[in-house]
Amino acid sequence: MEDGKPDDRLLELLALEGSEQVLDAGCGSGFHSLLIARHLPRGRVVATDVSTEMLDRLRRNAAAAGLADRVEPVLGDGQHLAQPDGSMDRAVSVAVWHHLDDPRQAGRELARVLRPGGRAVVIDLEVVPAKKTAPGEGPRPTLRRSDMRGILEDAGLTSVRVETLGRWLIGAGTRRRSRRAEGGSRCGVAPQRDFQVRHRLAGSMAAGAGRRRRVMVREQAFERSGPSGRPPCGWSRAWTPRTAWSSR
Ligand SMILES: C[S@@+](CC[C@H](N)C(=O)[O-])C[C@H]1O[C@@H](n2cnc3c(N)ncnc32)[C@H](O)[C@@H]1O
Repeated sequence: MEDGKPDDRLLELLALEGSEQVLDAGCGSGFHSLLIARHLPRGRVVATDVSTEMLDRLRRNAAAAGLADRVEPVLGDGQHLAQPDGSMDRAVSVAVWHHLDDPRQAGRELARVLRPGGRAVVIDLEVVPAKKTAPGEGPRPTLRRSDMRGILEDAGLTSVRVETLGRWLIGAGTRRRSRRAEGGSRCGVAPQRDFQVRHRLAGSMAAGAGRRRRVMVREQAFERSGPSGRPPCGWSRAWTPRTAWSSR
């Protein structure tokens, strides 16, 4: 891979400890599968591709590098992975998305196979608007930074970062550990907790007034709405307020 050092950055972002299960979706002849496998003395790379010819090359390359026991070639489409939910510690896809009909679906699949806390790294060519593709040159890069970010975020990954390195876009994101641990909402604040904070504030305001009087307390809970079933961050119209007034 030319143009800067995306391979070094890939390894930095993967932060391997040596025993991970790593998916390489669209592995080709295995350049990145083998790069990663060298850092996995106790782990394994599941290397998938739609091309049997590429997988044969990968097998030969892995054997020549003495890494055959750390690399498992699997025939499969990156948009419909066969791996079970939550089965991978890391998932990578390098220079593949511009070949795909539906990179969004590929992003969702990477996120699906990650265990909670697992990380995906995607590298692909950044679109260059002025580029003219010669006949027979192959698929054109189609991704912008915002596309990469949107796909990873819509797939449900958190802490998404997108960088440009030469002509490469590098996107990374982490599968959230659990909804419950993060407070049950996308922004990490439980509706119930938020209600309690407001309620307490109202009470202390009444106490500070230093006299007996009726205080109107606005109790507000927020319910999910919208087709995704996932609330956005902050107070938003996508949340439906349920308001009850009571006197204390
Ligand atoms: C440019 S090569 C990149 C190979 C490898 N990731 C690398 O960086 O060296 C693109 C690879 O994506 C594979 N590919 C294309 N469409 C795919 C799909 N739907 N699912 C999985 N792999 C796909 C091709 O067979 C090819 O091996």
